[in-house]
Amino acid sequence: MNGRGSLNPRPFVLRLKGRKMTKITPAVPMTLAVLTLLAGAAGAQDAQAPKDNITAVRDEDGRYYTADDVPTFKIAEDGTVDWLTYSGFRRYHAECHVCHGPEGEGSSYAPALKKSAIALDYYAFIDVVTNGRKKVNVAEHSVMPAFGENVNVMCYLDDIYVYLKARGADALPRGRPAKKEPKSDAIRDAENSCLGNN
Ligand code: HEC
Repeated sequence: MNGRGSLNPRPFVLRLKGRKMTKITPAVPMTLAVLTLLAGAAGAQDAQAPKDNITAVRDEDGRYYTADDVPTFKIAEDGTVDWLTYSGFRRYHAECHVCHGPEGEGSSYAPALKKSAIALDYYAFIDVVTNGRKKVNVAEHSVMPAFGENVNVMCYLDDIYVYLKARGADALPRGRPAKKEPKSDAIRDAENSCLGNN
């Protein structure tokens, strides 16, 4: 289609980035790849992959990732959600909604996490949940507990995060998702080892 033949930069970019990416825009100009290599720019992004923090560009055993290898949701046109989004809906409503309100909408006490999941970088989000955060002074008493020792949260961090991201991106309506992808063996195995079940 692009008629580039052997100039197709795909294998080149793959080696350059040194990590697994199954979908790379084949039209990245060769010159750019060469320049990036010469500049030795570690971690540089190729120019034309979708850079947003929402769009799933690859999946791995039922988990979906953005171009930056950050977990994200995948919702089909008929409303079928990926397993993590479904699981995140359940985990969120077991552990977080008492303070943060149903569906990630926020409450008078704690912020709307559907917005946080979009605004905060993934690693910042994980850090707050793991280590907690406090603002306690005369004017405020705002405490986000640390969940780092709670396996019912830590083993489902990505689930909760992608669910909230789907809510924040307006990709998922309120309520329990009606249709979901099956839970993959890899997700089941990871869950069991995280929970210490094997
Ligand atoms: C006991 C109440 C409470 C519970 C339960 C709780 N949170 Fe929080 N959370 C808070 C409060 C209060 C804040 C605001 C902290 C501050 O002011 O710094 C907060 C802040 C956060 C933030 C930072 C938001 C931002 O935009 O900066 C994240 C992320 C977060 N919580 C995730 C979670 C998740 C995920 C869960 C469930 C596993 C959870 N919280 C459960 C009270 C809670």
